[in-house]
Amino acid sequence: MSKIIVLMGAPGAGKGTQARLLQERLRLPQISTGDMFRALMKTETPLAEELRPLLTLGRLVPDELTIRVVRERTAQADCRGGYILDGFPRTTAQAEMLEGLAAEQGHALLAVLVDVPYDVLEKRMTGRRNCPVCGEIYNVYFKPPAHDEVCDLHPEAKLVHRADDNADTARDRVETFERDTRPLLDFYETTGRLRRVDGNRDVEAIYADVEKAVNS
Ligand code: AP5
Ligand code: MG
Repeated sequence: MSKIIVLMGAPGAGKGTQARLLQERLRLPQISTGDMFRALMKTETPLAEELRPLLTLGRLVPDELTIRVVRERTAQADCRGGYILDGFPRTTAQAEMLEGLAAEQGHALLAVLVDVPYDVLEKRMTGRRNCPVCGEIYNVYFKPPAHDEVCDLHPEAKLVHRADDNADTARDRVETFERDTRPLLDFYETTGRLRRVDGNRDVEAIYADVEKAVNS
């Protein structure tokens, strides 16, 4: 049966890093609500005005809007064989919506938690840089690009530092995760659909366990 793979984890845990590998190797589309909101934020629209302060301060985007974006994206043809969700759901209302969506679309759901201790998260977030062209994720401490501040594959592109990747906002985002999103782990655990992976190792070791979990 086709699957929705829900990658879960605190901010900076490595959801995006693992989701990009899954997309490449399992040929399933990666849907990151954070990436979608950051792209929408760059447009000259009233929606961008609404999103900018929320994303900059690391506050959650309202459920209604988030749910609409996910419903529209997952209705596209490339999602028929299943897809990877990265950063969704984050609230009980979003998780409830996803239960209905999975049933409607005929997909099973499996949640994979990338588990990382809190003292590691801050460096992962404050050190992160992204390529504005291909979205490749770097880290000045753990995965530096070959040349300072430019993407290995797009040397013309200066890497971007996310506005919410400063120490204060990073702490707030972790608190939001604890309050609003952690309860969803219990929900998936009690329904037998949660797999936990130790996310405090190198990327490929984590990936091997993520892929095993996905195929379990
Ligand atoms: P979002 O973009 O989802 O941010 P997040 O959850 O805070 O997660 P991150 O993207 O920060 O971390 P990640 O787990 O993807 O880690 P990554 O792989 O990059 O959301 C941003 C905002 O959008 C939210 O605050 C909210 O405003 C809004 N939003 C999004 N979804 C929403 C929703 N559903 N509802 C409401 N609002 C929503 O890795 C992090 C760093 O660590 C990188 O530098 C990477 O190179 C490095 N790294 C990764 N793995 C390893 C490793 N194994 N070892 C060493 N370094 C590693
Ligand atoms: Mg991410």
